[in-house]
Amino acid sequence: MDLKITPAKTLSGATRVPGDKSISHRAVMLGALAHGDTCIENFLPSEDCLATVRCLNALGVKFTAAAKDKLYVHGQGLTGLTEPFEVLDAGNSGTTMRLLAGILAGQPFFSILTGDASLCRRPMGRVVKPLTQMGAKIWGRQDGNYPPLSIRGGKLKGIHYTLPVASAQVKSAILLAGLFAAGKTSAAEPVPTRDHTERMLKFFKADISLANNTVQVEGGRPLAAKKIYVPGDISAAAFFLVAGAIVPKADITLTKVGINPTRTGIIEVLKKMGADITIFNQQELNNEPFADLRVKAASLKGVSIGGKLVPRLIDEIPILAVAAACAQGDTIIRDAAELKVKESNRLATVAEELRKFGVETTELADGLIVRGGGRDALQGAECFSHKDHRIAMAMAVAGLAAQGQTLIKDTECIATSFPDFEQVLNTLRTPS
Ligand code: S3P
Repeated sequence: MDLKITPAKTLSGATRVPGDKSISHRAVMLGALAHGDTCIENFLPSEDCLATVRCLNALGVKFTAAAKDKLYVHGQGLTGLTEPFEVLDAGNSGTTMRLLAGILAGQPFFSILTGDASLCRRPMGRVVKPLTQMGAKIWGRQDGNYPPLSIRGGKLKGIHYTLPVASAQVKSAILLAGLFAAGKTSAAEPVPTRDHTERMLKFFKADISLANNTVQVEGGRPLAAKKIYVPGDISAAAFFLVAGAIVPKADITLTKVGINPTRTGIIEVLKKMGADITIFNQQELNNEPFADLRVKAASLKGVSIGGKLVPRLIDEIPILAVAAACAQGDTIIRDAAELKVKESNRLATVAEELRKFGVETTELADGLIVRGGGRDALQGAECFSHKDHRIAMAMAVAGLAAQGQTLIKDTECIATSFPDFEQVLNTLRTPS
């Protein structure tokens, strides 16, 4: 499938973005392990989250869909999962594979986790190592480093683990395994990463505590089923925050977007670049804050980013690079080597695709330099998604601000996180 994008004269109106992907995965998983029924509202029915639902279903968990985005999870309790007949397919979803590996490590049965060609090239040693230390037996390609993973879980013991890379998925896998382990399990992070697992575990009444960048969970404590409202995904909103900043005279409002401080790096950086963004109507439900975001067109300037900020906007770097291309001056992104092991090597794919729009980019060992040429810098291009949803959507936004038509090839991948992307975009293009 291809996506054709014509330049946008302007963008206006208010819209919702879909539910947060990270929170949707976690709601389904914790709901499955809780006692009783968990109702999830504004669930993200994207390919990635549906992969999690299918895997849990194969593990004996029942679901009732009341609407496309309203799901009931019939919890099995901590000891209620059953050995799957089939291989569990995580599709394109790193979160599904890594977090489920944590849960499966604690199960007294055998299971196999696999994924698509992109996921099978992503590193799994980072979860295999701590889960093995806890007592699980895990095999995978290349010495347990790559999927498929086969797991014989069982009696786990609590460990203390210091994460070598900043990764919320690794931290979450350890905490989920910790629910099944004897004693306390703790994970220390070098740099804070998204904390949705901790917040939700607390909401589900797990015995969890946080001190000095270390989160600790006590094993064997039952989880209580809850009602969860999933706020809008700031990683999906980011495409429109940038579109609103770079398309002439744009003025758009994105409602009920998650503003968990571990995720709001993109808002801070865009503001530093000169973007006109206001945050209002702040609320909080199930320990997760959300708000409405209004963005208006503005002239942007290049910035330097690195360090602790990077995990707070790790998934937004492709779209940030598009903002950088339309800014005046260079934007320098460092400390972002993790982008090489995402759904594609995002340092390489962003640099390559932006060049097709006439933008000068330099790939660094741990980052990217984007030479901004101001608003009129981009020429419409024919580009390729590299089967990476965030590359496809970032290039679509670049196309809105470019001169002439843009064609993005292979855009089926958008459905992994934002199935309604094109519709939402079209609503904002149509004057109301
Ligand atoms: C996620 C964590 C991040 C992020 C991914 C979702 C999560 O990955 O890039 O899209 O839901 O925990 P890492 O943990 O590999 O940094």
